[in-house]
Amino acid sequence: MNVHAPALAEAQRFDQQTSPFADDVLDGLSQHPKRLSPKYFYDAAGSELFEQITLLPEYYPTRTELSILHDRGGAISAILPKGAALVEFGAGATTKVRLLLNQCALGAYVPVDISGDFLKAQADALRQDLPDLAIHPVAADFTAPFALPEAVAGMPKVGFFPGSTLGNFEPHEACSFLRSAREILGHGAQMVIGVDLEKDERVLYDAYNDKAGVTARFNLNVLHRINRELGGNFDLSAFTHRAIYNRDRHRIEMHLIGRKAQTVRVLGRSFSFRAGESIHTESSYKYSLERFAALARGSGWTPRATWTDAAGMFSVHALVASD
Ligand code: AVI
Repeated sequence: MNVHAPALAEAQRFDQQTSPFADDVLDGLSQHPKRLSPKYFYDAAGSELFEQITLLPEYYPTRTELSILHDRGGAISAILPKGAALVEFGAGATTKVRLLLNQCALGAYVPVDISGDFLKAQADALRQDLPDLAIHPVAADFTAPFALPEAVAGMPKVGFFPGSTLGNFEPHEACSFLRSAREILGHGAQMVIGVDLEKDERVLYDAYNDKAGVTARFNLNVLHRINRELGGNFDLSAFTHRAIYNRDRHRIEMHLIGRKAQTVRVLGRSFSFRAGESIHTESSYKYSLERFAALARGSGWTPRATWTDAAGMFSVHALVASD
């Protein structure tokens, strides 16, 4: 009997795997500089760590956006059409959308998310609290074109994209996303979108280098995910979290820095790291109000109204589809 057979079969299972995650990781680790897409942060552990980040004292975006939606919910709902279908791109925790649902006379809520299980759980919880609201979840990758449910065909459409997730897109990707949302929502649609703003660099630095080290764990978790799902052998103690503000590109960059020269195997392929070499894992772009308005205009939308908190940390924008 070959005692190594089970281990060999396990290694082959990983080596032969093809999936968007596998392809992207192999491609990203082959680049110079090495990179991984931030969308792979969000497995179950990563999503839980992100929820913890949103509660950190240093991480201002979530609570600031919530305060704007809470304080300005009346003004926001006043400019949205009655009986509209609210289409949320990437339905996360429902805390933010509840602030709108409670204040707007909406015809339906359409949460869109790639994870069908997560969507169902969120929709079930909302149905308990808002039994009169029609909810039509759509399991789809919201960055690609998808069809809206037939049930909302006759309703005016309002897109909702909170959380400054737009900031995690490269500028050309942000433009493509806004154009695609414009196509999906159609003529006369509106969009409510949360966008993080440029500010004191120290505040930005601290938000991505929290004292408790939660952001570091969130960043490193992607290596753990590669080990688990792609049979990788990253030694997590040999990498360290680094977040810096790149002033020229208006973005926080998150990196994982190798502490020593090392070779890592993923899906049967070897990747060499020099001591101090980086894997760029995320960019979080920060906009000025003017630069965001220009991006919206160049992507098929006309800015209609903007709300910020008193300190000018975060912004919420209402856009109207340009003709
Ligand atoms: C989800 N996204 C808007 C967060 C951000 O601030 O860019 C992700 C994050 N990365 C580190 N901390 C939070």
